[in-house]
Amino acid sequence: MKTSVIAYVYAIVVAAAASLVGLYFYQPVVDFSLLAGAGWLTLVAFLGTILSYRVQGSTFGAVSFIPFLTAFVLYPSWATIAIVGFSALVAEMLKPKLAIKRAFNVSQIVLAGCVSIGCYLLFGGKPLEVDPSFQSVPHIAAVVVFLVVNTLAVAAVIGLAEGKSIVKTWVSGNAAGLVYDIVAVPGVFAFGRAYVDWGNWGVGVLCALILGLRLTYQSKHQLETTNKELLELFVHTVEFRDPYTSGHSQRVSRYSRIIAQVVGLTPKEIDRISVAALLHDVGKIHEIFAPILMKPGRLTPEERAIMELHPIKSAELVAKISDLQDIVPAVRHHHENWDGTGYPDQLKGREIPLGSRIIMFADTIDAMTTDRPYRKALGEVEVRDELRKFRGIQFDPDICDALIGSPDFRRLFDSADSGKVHSLTQILEIVRKRVKTPAVA
Ligand SMILES: [Fe+2]
Repeated sequence: MKTSVIAYVYAIVVAAAASLVGLYFYQPVVDFSLLAGAGWLTLVAFLGTILSYRVQGSTFGAVSFIPFLTAFVLYPSWATIAIVGFSALVAEMLKPKLAIKRAFNVSQIVLAGCVSIGCYLLFGGKPLEVDPSFQSVPHIAAVVVFLVVNTLAVAAVIGLAEGKSIVKTWVSGNAAGLVYDIVAVPGVFAFGRAYVDWGNWGVGVLCALILGLRLTYQSKHQLETTNKELLELFVHTVEFRDPYTSGHSQRVSRYSRIIAQVVGLTPKEIDRISVAALLHDVGKIHEIFAPILMKPGRLTPEERAIMELHPIKSAELVAKISDLQDIVPAVRHHHENWDGTGYPDQLKGREIPLGSRIIMFADTIDAMTTDRPYRKALGEVEVRDELRKFRGIQFDPDICDALIGSPDFRRLFDSADSGKVHSLTQILEIVRKRVKTPAVA
């Protein structure tokens, strides 16, 4: 581990201890009747942390993050922070980790908590158990400050460890954090009121609801990931038959995603078109194509006629999966030309599904930008010229203009560009992981 990282962790430990002592001197007397609520919420957060170990993913899952903050506003005092710090330490001890990582994780929670409580008190916030109304300025300040300190502390350790700018690391990891802040503020208040109005059971029921939602979301996410991996495995299997198209479907999927973005489609539409693009040639698995795919030279007219059946075979295969019915037309018509000279149904212009028109670009661009036995891969300028040349003949003229005129055109030639588009849910998931994972590793 780098010396700068170790020094930084020591600094965070000292800052955490100093801020806790500072809070103690600011308000040393503890009201134990108020501390009970904060203690209960911390226990809930602790259980959430343990559960998040079991259900995979971040150290401080959604179940534990909001209860921690709720404990701060229920009773903003040094004693609450002491309990939170202790529970974080116990949670850390349950996992095999380096001592320095444990020290960092616990200290940065304590530090973020102290600063958060300090702001809450500074803005005139009262313990929620004393004044159960929504104290907008102190509440918002406490949540935002906690998140900022937490994420900055983590970004700094990542930046130092990887030799990157701390500010850039923080911005890139937390640009969408404001969305999460808005979600967290009412969440913290709802938990606080659930405790004040209904006691321990109120919080318990709320937690069970959130845990249920989280588990449902996680199962759904895992199922989607498995489905996607199975599809990719299937596509790989198909491509084993065609030595010249290894990785072709993944690239076409990536290009389709970028083009669909340029056209201004919604994240859901972009996702569906990228799946259609991934599967556009799966019909080639059919045995009738095997000898033709392995043939080295030019195809005879008969062989070409057989090959032109592959979009139909692809569409038939895709249609067997209930979840993919909506993309069957996009798969079937991916070789239709704008002027009606394509196959298999000689559709023309806007009769051709939008997804197919996009895949047509992606498919052709991939063919042009990969080396073939008879020619080298074309560059950006040559591809642009070719697209212009066949605008309104092979390609949709509107998409052609949008694509050529877009700064995103370059992304088609950048192999490091994943072309990923994040939906709000995905952004929240990313932010959730970043914000509430106060772990070094
Ligand atoms: Fe095809």
